[in-house]
Amino acid sequence: MPQSSVPNSEPRCVPCRLAAIGALVLVVAGGFAYTAGWLTPARLTASRLINTFETVAGQPHPGYRRNHAKGLCVEGYFDSNGNGATLSRAAVFTPGRTPVTGRFAVPGGNPSAPDTSSPVRSLALQFQLANGEQWRTGMNSTPVFAVHTPAQFYQQLLAAKPDPATGKPDPAKLKAFYASNPETLPFQNWVKAHPPSSSLANAAYYGINAFRFTDGAGTTRAVRWAMVPETPYVPITDAQKAEMNFLQADLDQRLDSGPLRWRLILTVAQPGDPTDDATLQWPDARQHIDAGTLVLDRATSQENGTCRDINFDPTILPAGIAPSDDPLLAARSAAYALSYQRRTREEALHPTIHQTHANGDRS
Ligand code: HEM
Repeated sequence: MPQSSVPNSEPRCVPCRLAAIGALVLVVAGGFAYTAGWLTPARLTASRLINTFETVAGQPHPGYRRNHAKGLCVEGYFDSNGNGATLSRAAVFTPGRTPVTGRFAVPGGNPSAPDTSSPVRSLALQFQLANGEQWRTGMNSTPVFAVHTPAQFYQQLLAAKPDPATGKPDPAKLKAFYASNPETLPFQNWVKAHPPSSSLANAAYYGINAFRFTDGAGTTRAVRWAMVPETPYVPITDAQKAEMNFLQADLDQRLDSGPLRWRLILTVAQPGDPTDDATLQWPDARQHIDAGTLVLDRATSQENGTCRDINFDPTILPAGIAPSDDPLLAARSAAYALSYQRRTREEALHPTIHQTHANGDRS
């Protein structure tokens, strides 16, 4: 009986096939190793940044954001007046209401830090557009950022590492960092001239990085945005400076009396204005467009609220808004993703971690 009439078309050189498979495995493994930064230890990767945030925080805080760890969730909506449509075709700018989930926070990696641990507060928002798209943004209460590049941000983090002897950053190291990075001056000067607000409700929040807005006719312009409070600014009081958690208590009290409002102000760049440098403000004379009102009417705990499992990655944008050439944006996207992966993994492995945390349950 003949064995088989089907010709054997496979190559006969078994060692050649094994070598080819081996080479392929090496290329794939090398790709992973390069992406993870194992082959280039000096390269700034998201894991180097996040590991450094964890070291600076002093002790692990599983389940919490690696930066802006102390915070609370808020809910509300954005009422567009239609003016933003002159700059962007994003559906969020057509007249009407868009639901919003947000998070107020204080920078730093410790979810139990005193509210005064940083002069900066933040507001992150996720707009849920009717067409299924989302606009996510993370804003700080300063119009400029301290540093220009991710590498400088990393150096700033290293300079803020606690000294093992005192448990606090070494002021000499911070001073040396600022002295060798004069780009930080506009930020330092702004913070000196603007005491922190007495409330999360009476601070302005700035997107800081530039973005590219494209209108319905296809014209693209560089734009920055800010949420400007309707509640008048009042500086922090001496009594508040002595309290650990006055920001949450103040917000809860204000929301008991009714919703809080901010105006969304879009600022349009002129040719030549820097779009890749978050340390530089654009001149005041630039065109400002009031695009509508953000209304926040409910706060919940970050341990159980709707913002807990949101990654406020600033590059998640609807059609009509795109990232600029600011190098911080890609670094933010990568770092937030890794922080999100680590904290949601910790939540999944230890579902009760948030119940045991000192901040407790506010919802
Ligand atoms: C290279 C520069 C930066 C790095 C590496 C960085 C890193 C981080 C990380 C790791 C988080 C935690 C993210 C999470 O777990 O969800 C975070 C949160 C945050 N960052 Fe940044 N950041 C940078 C620049 C900025 C800038 C320029 C702004 C302001 C425009 C900003 C505003 C925020 C805000 C508002 C949050 C809190 C988001 C939330 O409430 O969930 N960051 N940052």
